[in-house]
Amino acid sequence: MKPITMADLNQLKKEKRKFATITAYDSSFAQLFAGQGINVMLVGDSLGMALQGADTTIPVTIEDIVYHTRCVRAGAPYTFLIADMPFMSYATPEQSCENAAKLMRAGANMVKIEGGSWLNDTIKILTERSVPVCAHLGLTPQSVHVLGGYKVQGRDEKSANQLIKDAITLEQAGIQLLVLECVPTELAKRITDELQIPVIGIGAGNMTDGQVLVMHDALGITARPPKFAKNFLEEAGNMRDAIRLYKEQVESGAYPDKEHSFN
Ligand code: KIV
Repeated sequence: MKPITMADLNQLKKEKRKFATITAYDSSFAQLFAGQGINVMLVGDSLGMALQGADTTIPVTIEDIVYHTRCVRAGAPYTFLIADMPFMSYATPEQSCENAAKLMRAGANMVKIEGGSWLNDTIKILTERSVPVCAHLGLTPQSVHVLGGYKVQGRDEKSANQLIKDAITLEQAGIQLLVLECVPTELAKRITDELQIPVIGIGAGNMTDGQVLVMHDALGITARPPKFAKNFLEEAGNMRDAIRLYKEQVESGAYPDKEHSFN
């Protein structure tokens, strides 16, 4: 086994082969996911809701993400590991360097930040200092109070065009991956086709290069799951088969189907 790198993910995009990503927060699940062939994992600030019982991701701290990144890395030494920079941990370029360093030291291969072109300077300073960056556009949960709730983004032409513009600007600034959350399938396809870098969708239809799901949604643990979430455990019967089913359905394009997408 060799470590998964961005070169592998770029190659998948080139070959138009889809890949599955899942959130992980501890070493046992990380090991189980890796054992089923999941090669990309995210230590998401969704842990605020999934693990800490909060209503939003806002209470999550950099120390929380550092701790869980260490745990996941211990269970999945070869996975390509993305770690979220939580709310207010990248408010200035200098602060983002300090906090990104903590995540990279804990075992992350890449950090993820939420937002559009206001992040350009942050992306430049991080990438120049050898921190690979993933951006997160669409529904950005850290901005839930500005967005007025967890709503599908880019439904009208103006906001769709803004998202396309932001995605292109972020790519030019140096991001190597983009997560698109809760946008209509057609818009996600346009952005995926427009960018050279791999695009990972969540609630963004099945035309993106990859998919990510919160593990608690994929395993039917979340009490009120979002529309795009599918309980793979229900169909598979056990956890290992559920993860394998998720991976297979992402790779074949069967998930997300229309029922789990926004059109
Ligand atoms: O925090 C998280 O788990 C995420 C995913 C929903 C993409 O950002």
